[in-house]
Amino acid sequence: MRAPPSLPVRPLSAVRAPAPLAGRVRVPGDKSISHRALMFAGLAFGTTRISGLLEGEDVLRTADAMRALGAVVTREQGGSWTVEGKGLGQLAEPEDVLDMGNSGTAARLLAGILATHPMQTVMTGDASLRRRPMKRVIDPLSLSGAHFAARAGGRLPLSISGTGDARAISYRLPVASAQVKSAVLLAGLNAPGETVVEEPVPTRDHSENMLRHFGASVTVETAGSGRVIRLDGRPTLEARDVAVPSDPSSAAFPLVAALLVPGSSVRIEAVGLNPLRTGLFTTLREMGAAIAIENERVEGGEPVGDLLVTASGLRGVDVPLERAPSMIDEYPVLAVAAAFASGTTRMRGLEELRVKESDRLAATVALLAANGVRVEVEGDDMLVHGTGRPISGGGLVETRMDHRLAMSAIVLGLAAEQAVRVDDTAFIETSFPGFVALMNSLGAGLAG
Ligand code: S3P
Repeated sequence: MRAPPSLPVRPLSAVRAPAPLAGRVRVPGDKSISHRALMFAGLAFGTTRISGLLEGEDVLRTADAMRALGAVVTREQGGSWTVEGKGLGQLAEPEDVLDMGNSGTAARLLAGILATHPMQTVMTGDASLRRRPMKRVIDPLSLSGAHFAARAGGRLPLSISGTGDARAISYRLPVASAQVKSAVLLAGLNAPGETVVEEPVPTRDHSENMLRHFGASVTVETAGSGRVIRLDGRPTLEARDVAVPSDPSSAAFPLVAALLVPGSSVRIEAVGLNPLRTGLFTTLREMGAAIAIENERVEGGEPVGDLLVTASGLRGVDVPLERAPSMIDEYPVLAVAAAFASGTTRMRGLEELRVKESDRLAATVALLAANGVRVEVEGDDMLVHGTGRPISGGGLVETRMDHRLAMSAIVLGLAAEQAVRVDDTAFIETSFPGFVALMNSLGAGLAG
């Protein structure tokens, strides 16, 4: 299975759900964990089997890149994937440019791996990814001895001259970013000595967990409100099977739809509940959402559980800035929920939203404003003024090559009075293949 060269434009008009949403669903595998599983398996000795891998465009780009670097990546009958790793430091120089499509995670984590492999690579991406900042990884990775040449403003395409004589990096993250943390740790794998990353606020720790799973020595200490992560360089990484849980960031969409469509009751099964990913669930519960968690268990080293969601009246809340990293991808759909709540929701500290697949702060404001919602930005905070009544809808939403905006707009349309037109839903394929069909299995009645 390979990523297609480009995604054909797919507009959609989302109309009010004909009846309450009902049923049980399982959303696709976690995007962050899927990228990491393919990359770490490619650096390990032996064959790793991955079950539940997200087969979205972003992850397929990572699979293609690992193949171009010499790993043997195969989709088996039955849907699991195998990766025959090359071993640390053994990746082959790719013959062509690596195209990471729409995926910031793929580009930034791979830059970490490539920095400490002695070869020359060039990386590019689609128009969205080519606008996103790479300086945040170029700066720390240059400390290893690797050299980078990027377009103005640190943009892709990026040329990477990896080093065979790497220095271990010590770095304090200037922004709360799991991608930057992971890039530094991945570079540290092929550098002698100890790599140290200090993060001012904890961010998702899938890299730390999976590195340990593959046999690396990683320690984590709390330091004030943040953490210090230490990795011993040049470990022997051994192939280990990986079970990918369902993505809480994808579960967010049927979840919010079920809260907003009156009378709905939906079960979302086996959702990843890593505490560094569940800020949305905490926030929605504070807003009055009926979300119960059942069957809590640990699968493949990550906590998972079933979410039972019942339509609920919501009230506005103040979302603290320290919570942002644990729900960074969920603000567009939280803003949709807030539009239906009574009172104002203030979401604090959203500067990082400006550098996602689109400027998500501006795009979320435009999404809501086009559909009759009063919304403001004050500094880095977004304020959504809900009235407690259904919102008018009827707007056209520009999704700006951003999958999460497209899905948020569709959720809005399912609960608004008039249809919400979405200019292009094609990018939903990057993270949530089968989204429309899954929503329709709950009774959403979406065309297309
Ligand atoms: C991710 C980290 C987050 C998130 C992205 C996935 C990861 O990005 O927005 O969707 O897998 O590490 P940042 O590290 O830029 O915050």
